[in-house]
Formats: sequence, structure tokens, C-alpha cells
Amino acid sequence: MKSLLASVSLLLLALSVTAQQTVSSVKYKFAVKVVNAIKNGNTDLTVLVDPQLEDDAKAQIVNSMLNTAEMIKSVGSPSMLKIINVLEYKDKNTGQPVLLVPVMMGSKIYTIHIHNPVEADGKWYVGGRVNFVSSEREKALTTGRKIYMAKCFSCHGKYAEGGVGPNLTDDYWKHAASNEDIYRVISDGKKGTVMMAFKNYMSKDEIRDVMLYLSMLQHQRIKKGKSPEGDKHALLRDLYINTK
Ligand code: HEC
Repeated sequence: MKSLLASVSLLLLALSVTAQQTVSSVKYKFAVKVVNAIKNGNTDLTVLVDPQLEDDAKAQIVNSMLNTAEMIKSVGSPSMLKIINVLEYKDKNTGQPVLLVPVMMGSKIYTIHIHNPVEADGKWYVGGRVNFVSSEREKALTTGRKIYMAKCFSCHGKYAEGGVGPNLTDDYWKHAASNEDIYRVISDGKKGTVMMAFKNYMSKDEIRDVMLYLSMLQHQRIKKGKSPEGDKHALLRDLYINTK
């Protein structure tokens, strides 16, 4: 199983993608349906596959979904798997979209990649392989979440949807026009507000891990977010995909 995990991580290294796009609600629902079918393991997975593909290609995709199901079982109990978000990127090499579905099992985060979702006759299907990813990135996300839940959650909400502090998952920022600005706010705080400086309580890597976690939560739909505050800047979008 270890070698399977390693090869999946290698696949990730080979994946080069362009900026994140906001995922439409039909694709969001589609991704949730695919992951739930894999997780429950009791549905005929072929019905999820693009019916217009050749049999060989269909079989490969179904195989990749079965592999994903095996990987889920190998790291935890599938019934505990929770979908956190669905994000969409474009594969630079093939031009095809890839849906990234970060999931939680226990206290750990993993990512399921769904390559090339396609529409046929008004329905969405899987048109490319499905991968289960458990790499350094997922380790950093797991750490980032742990720190976030200990130090930020009380003011910014469980899914960073906002509370006393602003929503950190939308495209509006009061104090940041770049990712580095966000780093500085976390490190140095904002004088005159309850947003304190964390530099004496968190290492640089820990701040980066929290930012990675926030990147993964962009446009989360689990909770309704607090209304936008500040200026429009699409920040933190690509940390998640650019981290190996
Ligand atoms: C005690 C409450 C509190 C805690 C804890 C807290 N924040 Fe904040 N945070 C705020 C408030 C309030 C603001 C907005 C300040 C203002 O109004 O200018 C803010 C602003 C921010 C901003 C800038 C948002 C923007 O729109 O520009 C970021 C980024 C941020 N916090 C991240 C974090 C992170 C990461 C943590 C945990 C390490 C954290 N905060 C912990 C209350 C908090």
C-alpha cells in the first residue's frame, strides 16, 4: 500500500495546473456524488463514467475509483469521511479541468482528484482518472487545520467563514492585496483590533501551514459565510494546488 501511496504522490508532481476557478454548484454536487459513491462502495461505479468513452477507458476510470476506495479503507473508516470543499483547476498540459475534493477522516485531511468531469445529455460524468492523494501537502494541511482550530477558529469560524473576525474564504480582504500581506497580518497582527500578532506563538512554517489550510477552504460551501469586507482580491487561490 505504501508504494501505491508513493505513486499517487508522483502523479501529483507531474500535474501542472493553472489558477483555481470557482466551481459551479452543479459540478460541486457532481463531485460530492462521485466521492460519496466511492466512499459507500455500494453503487455501480460504471454509471458515473462518461458513457461516450471506449470500454477500455471506462474500465480504467472505474479501476481508479476502486483504487481510491481501497486507499480510503487503508487510512481510515470510510463512514467517517467528510467532504470539506470542492475546488476546480485546469490541467496545464491537457487543458482539462480537475476537481480537487479535500476530505477529512478522523483528524487527517486527504485530497481526492477527479480528472476531466464531462457533461453529456445534461448529466455530469467522470471522464478521467480519480486519484486519492496523501502527500506532504496533506500532512501540512492536517497540521494547518490543527493550528487553525487551536488559534483562529474562535474568531474566524470553523470553516474560516467569519465570526468576530472577517470571512477568510471569500475574495474580499481588509488588510491584504497579496498572500504575503496575509502572512504579515497573521505574523504581526493588526494594532487597535483583537487580531493579535502570532509570530511569538507560531513558527514561520506553522503560519504557512495555516495559510495552506485557508487556501483549501476558499469558497467553502459547508457554512454560509459572513458578508464580504474590504477590497476584492482573489488571494490564497493557488497555494493548495502548487504545494506538493
Ligand atoms: C480574538 C479574535 C481573533 C483571533 C483569535 C484571530 N483573529 Fe484574525 N482577525 C480578527 C479580527 C477582528 C480581524 C479584523 C481586524 C480589523 O477589523 O481590522 C482579523 C483579521 C484577520 C486577517 C485579515 C483579514 C482581511 O480581511 O484582511 C487575517 C488573514 C486573519 N485575521 C487571520 C487569522 C489567523 C490565521 C488566526 C489564527 C492564527 C487569527 N486570525 C486569529 C480576530 C481574530
